[in-house]
Amino acid sequence: MTATAGDRGTAPGPEQGTVPAAQRHTPVLLERCLDLLAPALQDGPAPVMIDGTLGMGGHTEAALERFERLTVIGIDRDAQAISLATERLARFGPRFRAVHTTYDRIDEVAREGGRGGVDAVLMDLGVSSLQLDEAGRGFSYARPAPLDMRMDQGGGSTAQELLEEASQEELAWILRTYGEERFASRIAAALVRRREAGRAVSTTAELAELVRESVPAAARRTGGHPAKRTFQALRIAVNSELDVLQRALPRALDALREGGRLVVESYHSLEDRIVKQVLAAGAASRAPEGLPLVPEADRPYLELLTHGAVKADAFEIASNPRSASVRLRAAMRTRDALQAPALGVERPTGRAPGPRPPQSRRAPRSPRVQRHTRNPGGAHR
Ligand SMILES: C[S@@+](CC[C@H](N)C(=O)[O-])C[C@H]1O[C@@H](n2cnc3c(N)ncnc32)[C@H](O)[C@@H]1O
Repeated sequence: MTATAGDRGTAPGPEQGTVPAAQRHTPVLLERCLDLLAPALQDGPAPVMIDGTLGMGGHTEAALERFERLTVIGIDRDAQAISLATERLARFGPRFRAVHTTYDRIDEVAREGGRGGVDAVLMDLGVSSLQLDEAGRGFSYARPAPLDMRMDQGGGSTAQELLEEASQEELAWILRTYGEERFASRIAAALVRRREAGRAVSTTAELAELVRESVPAAARRTGGHPAKRTFQALRIAVNSELDVLQRALPRALDALREGGRLVVESYHSLEDRIVKQVLAAGAASRAPEGLPLVPEADRPYLELLTHGAVKADAFEIASNPRSASVRLRAAMRTRDALQAPALGVERPTGRAPGPRPPQSRRAPRSPRVQRHTRNPGGAHR
C-alpha cells in the first residue's frame, strides 16, 4: 500500500494522456450519492471520506466541491487511475490524498488517517470507462488488445494466463457463475480445444470471435454482443472481485464512526447480492429468535438508508448508458464499531458466502491465489 499523491504510476499512453480525467468517466447517480452522504459530511469541523474506488475522481471532486471542510482519501488498485485522478484533484491541495491499493485494505487506510472512525465511505464498484476504453487493457471485446484485464497491472495473472492454465471445468464454472453465460460449457470446450491445438486465445478479438462461433446462431442475434458475458466473467475472476468485495465491506463498515455512512454502487447481480447481504445482516439482530433479552452486541448496528436498490432514471441512462445496470445501496452506522463490529458477520473461515470455483481451479502456487494472501492488495508486486 503506497500513498501516491504525485506518484505517476503507470503513465497514460501518449494518445490517452491528452484526454482529461473528467472526460473519461461520467460518475453514476452522482447527486444521489452526495445527498445520501451529506448528513455525515456537512456538519463536522473536519469530515473525512474514503472513496474506495477513486477511478477518475468524479465522485470525489463533486464531494470536495460540495462539502467545503471535507478531506477525501481515494483508494484505487489501478495506478493509471490514481495518476489521472491525482492530477485532476491537485487543486484541492491537502484535502485530497490518493492510496494505491485494493479497497479491502480500507481498515489500514482508515487507521493511517489517524482518527477514531471516518465519516463516510463511497464504493463505486467495477471498471471505469477509462479501463474499458483504453487500448491495451483488454477489458473490452470491442477493442483489439492482448487479453490482460488486470486492474492493477503491477502484478497477478492476466486473462490470457488464466485461459492457458485453467481446466475446462474451471473455465466453464467461471463463465457460468461470474458471467451467467448459458453456453459456458461450449465456450470452455472451444477454448480448451484451441489451446490443445497449440493456438491458445491471446487477444480480445480472438476471444470475441471464438465466443461468437461457439454460441448457437439464434443466440448471436439477441442480448447484445455474445462475448459480453464472457469478458465480464474473466474480468471478475482475474481481479478476484467478489472475494475482495466480501472482505472489504465489513472492514468499510468498521471504519465508520457512529453516524457514519456507506454508499455502494454495484453493476451486476453478484456484487449487489453481496452488498445486500452484508447490509441486511448489520440492520438485523444477531440474537436467536425468541430470546427475551437481546445482548447489546447482537443488536443491529446499521440503519438502511435505501429501500431496495436505487436505480438510474431513464434520463441518466440515456446520457450515460453505463448507469443502466447500477444498483445503489446505502446504510448508516447507528452504533460504534467497538460495540458492534461488522467483522463478526464474516463466516468463521473468512470466506465469501458466494459461489466458489471447483477445487481443481487453482494450482497452489498460482499468483492469482497469492495476490491477496501473501501481500494483500500490495501496490508493488
Ligand atoms: C467505476 S470506477 C470508479 C469511478 C469513480 N467513482 C469516478 O467518478 O471517477 C471503479 C474504480 O474502482 C477501481 N477498483 C475496482 N476494484 C477495486 C478494488 N478491489 N480495490 C481498489 N480499487 C478498485 C477500478 O480500478 C476503477 O478505477
